[in-house]
Amino acid sequence: QLNERESMFLVSKFAKDYFHDILLNSDQGKAIGLSYFKERGFREETISKFELGYAIDEWDAFTKQALKKGYDLKYLEKTGLTIVKENKQFDRFKGRVLFPIHSMSGRILGFGGRILTNDKKAAKYLNSPESDIYHKSKILYGIYHAKKEIAKQDNCFLVEGYTDVISFHQSNIENVVASSGTALTSDQIRLVNRLTKNITVLFDGDAAGIRASIRGIDLILEQGMNVKVVTFPEGEDPDSFAKSHSDSELKEYLANNAQDFINFKVSLLMESAQNDPVKKAGLIRDIVSSISKIPDSIQREVYVQECARIMEISERVLFSELAQLVSKTS
Ligand code: CTP
Ligand code: MN
Ligand code: MN
Ligand code: MN
Ligand code: MN
Repeated sequence: QLNERESMFLVSKFAKDYFHDILLNSDQGKAIGLSYFKERGFREETISKFELGYAIDEWDAFTKQALKKGYDLKYLEKTGLTIVKENKQFDRFKGRVLFPIHSMSGRILGFGGRILTNDKKAAKYLNSPESDIYHKSKILYGIYHAKKEIAKQDNCFLVEGYTDVISFHQSNIENVVASSGTALTSDQIRLVNRLTKNITVLFDGDAAGIRASIRGIDLILEQGMNVKVVTFPEGEDPDSFAKSHSDSELKEYLANNAQDFINFKVSLLMESAQNDPVKKAGLIRDIVSSISKIPDSIQREVYVQECARIMEISERVLFSELAQLVSKTS
């Protein structure tokens, strides 16, 4: 079993090197893949740092080369790099730019592959399947390249996408990881928790992004971490925002717009509640429920006071609501 995983790591590393080489040195890679990245503003040093790649638009170009180099079909299949159908072998990734996914220690676990068109019918991203080495819910994209800076800054920016991570690095912000579009999990938060107690959640300026961040917040609080939230203007994501602003403008935006999770949730939910007392009561319960997730009782109390002040209700009401929830969960 140990040897099997080792073989899967080896073939994944080979694939990463192969696709990176194709991007930089083949005619198709340069004409299509590299120019795609350059049009998006990715610099060569960044492309090399993240070991970005390109998969040629052919049925089995990669698989053929891997077999020729002596890699076992079994592991090509187990990593999902090759698909075997009726005794024929096909490459999973064809005509896509590739983002290798690194483990905390820098090993290659899988790939995300983006189509180059804006064809709404085709899936924008195709990812490696779950395997013995790749568990989507247990890894954060960018953690390998971010870990040092997360510890140094004592804060981690959490974004949605591969390109958000890469753009931030280009803007000289390196303490950033991506959940890769999935709902944040406790395992993912634990990876960050080893490096810092502070997370700043930056989600896309769309309804899906905001919903995802609200769910993630409670999981982060549960691990005794501090959460801040930054929202972006409608239709923008961290990548597009970073591209249209200077490094210092981006830094300033993040600093000026980081809201404590309480303020974020209150302002977001207050909008929908307006003066409706039933909705407002639901909102208060929602926020108290978030506060009840915080393991530290003193921290909980500080939040209750803050919440009472913002929402103009008595602390007593909030504390009794909180007491019920805490007793239920412990
Ligand atoms: N994602 C995915 N499969 C999809 C769509 C999205 O796995 N069909 C993941 C990718 O990791 C992606 C992230 O969710 O990076 C965020 O999705 P989205 O915001 O739609 O993409 P962007 O990262 O903004 O990519 P781009 O700027 O290239 O459109
Ligand atoms: Mn810049
Ligand atoms: Mn999005
Ligand atoms: Mn996005
Ligand atoms: Mn984007």
